[in-house]
Amino acid sequence: MPTLLWTGEISLPIRIMVNMGSIIAWITGNARDSSAMKERMKDGYNGKYSDYIKNYDELASFHYERISNTLIQKVDCRGKKVIDVGCGTGILSLIILEKDVAQLTCFDQSELMLEKCRGKAASEGYGEDQVSFHEGDAEALPFKDAAYDVVFFNMVSGMIPNQQATIKELTRILRPGGTIALSAHGPAHYVEAVEAAIKSMNMRYFLGHRFEFWPRDENEIKSFFMNAGVDNIQTERLTWIDEFEDGGEVFDFFASTSGLWWYHRLPPDIRNKETEKTRTYFQRKGVTKISSDVVFAVGKKR
Ligand SMILES: C[S@@+](CC[C@H](N)C(=O)[O-])C[C@H]1O[C@@H](n2cnc3c(N)ncnc32)[C@H](O)[C@@H]1O
Repeated sequence: MPTLLWTGEISLPIRIMVNMGSIIAWITGNARDSSAMKERMKDGYNGKYSDYIKNYDELASFHYERISNTLIQKVDCRGKKVIDVGCGTGILSLIILEKDVAQLTCFDQSELMLEKCRGKAASEGYGEDQVSFHEGDAEALPFKDAAYDVVFFNMVSGMIPNQQATIKELTRILRPGGTIALSAHGPAHYVEAVEAAIKSMNMRYFLGHRFEFWPRDENEIKSFFMNAGVDNIQTERLTWIDEFEDGGEVFDFFASTSGLWWYHRLPPDIRNKETEKTRTYFQRKGVTKISSDVVFAVGKKR
């Protein structure tokens, strides 16, 4: 069962409001249906709720490149059989391929993201013997036990309802002594944008809905690893702030990294109007900076 109450940083009034919504969502059943939650996330990353996701690379690659470059430095991938679970458009995957790996598997639930990843690998000249692509759910990987030397999970866990079960599944496909390397949304990740987005929302469409985002701190990630049979755990937490010219740019960045997956409750004909309204709200309130809070964790399977 995923955590019911909000796990990230947020102001007290918003926390109270969000948590009340979550409790109603639990009573009505919305917050107890992991499959439906995953489906909504998948729809978001397939562009069902917004076209912003199609501009993921254009608007957000600077952010994911920074995170990917930090994570890759913690792992020796040379000659190894590697998988990038939740690969998205392949920002980390392309960096992994530069490290002379034996073979890379790119895995994601979103066809749209995976297609971009496939296109980028092909245009860089990587062939089928070097890289393959699979669509599916990280919690039920279609691979044999101990099939990989290295598993990456880059900025995905915050969007997964059953984090412990998923980390156990990632560990299952790792050989004993193999490496799991993860970066995760920390408690203050995107806090300004999350807060502004919730404040500008039309509550009519969000009351009784649980916001499906579960950032975690180093201790929680360590505990997930230990319960999954991972040892030699090293963690690092980095925080930084990116400044933008105006609030509209912050909204564009935020929307492109998420696909606005929480819009599933909005009737399709008002989604664009709601997006414009929220973008204007970011501008009016001068939300020109966004915090990043990222937990990095690397460990070895026992
Ligand atoms: C924020 S993006 C990160 C993408 C990529 N790792 C990067 O660093 O650019 C999150 C990705 O996780 C994928 N994802 C979310 N839940 C998933 C699940 N249950 N199984 C597989 N992929 C999932 C999404 O489709 C999306 O591509």
